[in-house]
Amino acid sequence: MSPNEKTLLRALKGETAIPPPIWLMRQAGRYLPEYRAIRAKARNFLDLCFTPELAVEVTLQPIRRYGFDAAILFSDILVVPHALGQRVWFEEGAGPRLEPLRRIQELARLTMSGLHETLAPVYETLRRLHMELPEQTALIGFAGGPWTVASYMIEGGTSKDFAVAKTWAYRAPDEFARIIDLLVESTSEYLIAQVEAGAEVLQLFDSWAGVWPEPGLRRWCLEPVAEIVRRVKVAHPDVPVILFPRGAGPLYEAFAGEAGAEGLGLDTTVPLVWARERLQGAVTLQGNLDPLLLVAGGAALDQAVARILDTLGAGPFIFNLGHGITPETPPEHVERLVSLVRAWRPGA
Ligand code: CP3
Repeated sequence: MSPNEKTLLRALKGETAIPPPIWLMRQAGRYLPEYRAIRAKARNFLDLCFTPELAVEVTLQPIRRYGFDAAILFSDILVVPHALGQRVWFEEGAGPRLEPLRRIQELARLTMSGLHETLAPVYETLRRLHMELPEQTALIGFAGGPWTVASYMIEGGTSKDFAVAKTWAYRAPDEFARIIDLLVESTSEYLIAQVEAGAEVLQLFDSWAGVWPEPGLRRWCLEPVAEIVRRVKVAHPDVPVILFPRGAGPLYEAFAGEAGAEGLGLDTTVPLVWARERLQGAVTLQGNLDPLLLVAGGAALDQAVARILDTLGAGPFIFNLGHGITPETPPEHVERLVSLVRAWRPGA
């Protein structure tokens, strides 16, 4: 045991911390009035991500309010295609938009040559956070999984069924592999640079992993993500990585056993007892409160939090949501959640 070490880092070394550390995916965002105030100052969402002064401020907002055990860099998974040269913009109320990549010839327009230069403000944000965070608060850097990012690049935004991207992968897997390979390479470099700028933990968000049958899930999610973990660890063997292959179902077992990461983020649908029995011996689990319980609050929230803690809290565990917090979340419910987790003791 190392009592002075940050609880998130201890948990990712396989230690059981009582109570477990807590942070929330998308903990900075529109549910906080202080975020909306800063957001109104930025010309657009990408400007917010690329203005270190503002990005630092919105990263710190949920830390000040709730004292979470980790701060997550304020940025977006789509800064990578932007840095590769694809046009990316965010329309109010419509989510992200990209000029879609529809022919393999168009891949030649994307290049890693300006990657670090475009992403320099993100590294600067991390350096400042590293200086400013309270000593017990871990700093998480992140990127999207290659499949999830590729899906936005190809579909041109959020999709219902991922028909264009999946059909491409089925018809021309060699072409599709070139897109994924570019993302493996750029994402690995991006994450390595994040560690060098001060990130202590990395999370890979593969939010749309769950749309594939098993072979596709292995080929386009598990393998690329495992390759990124491998490359990051060549450069920084000690940096812990958390994977979030949302919707992977029973294949969560393959992510626990084969990807080389320390942590695994469970989505809302993963059964808790199954996760304890099949996954928790191999990796530190993170999750998986339904974000809508945080909107609803009341007894339903209290009971669900207790059930998660009572089932997973006796092993290496990080409390989190099963997906990102929604803008409708009342900030008081987050306050309640944090106090429930901090008051929890096994068997009480
Ligand atoms: O967790 C954090 O607080 C850090 C910041 C963060 C954002 N996006 C900020 C954001 C993180 C980790 C992300 C990841 C992300 N971005 C994912 C993976 C996680 C997930 O939720 O599945 C995905 C798929 C994206 C792509 C993306 N960015 C979408 C689909 C949207 C629109 C949805 C929405 O909530 O509006 C965004 C925009 C975005 N990214 C916002 C924030 C705070 C809202 C934009 C705004 O404030 O105007």
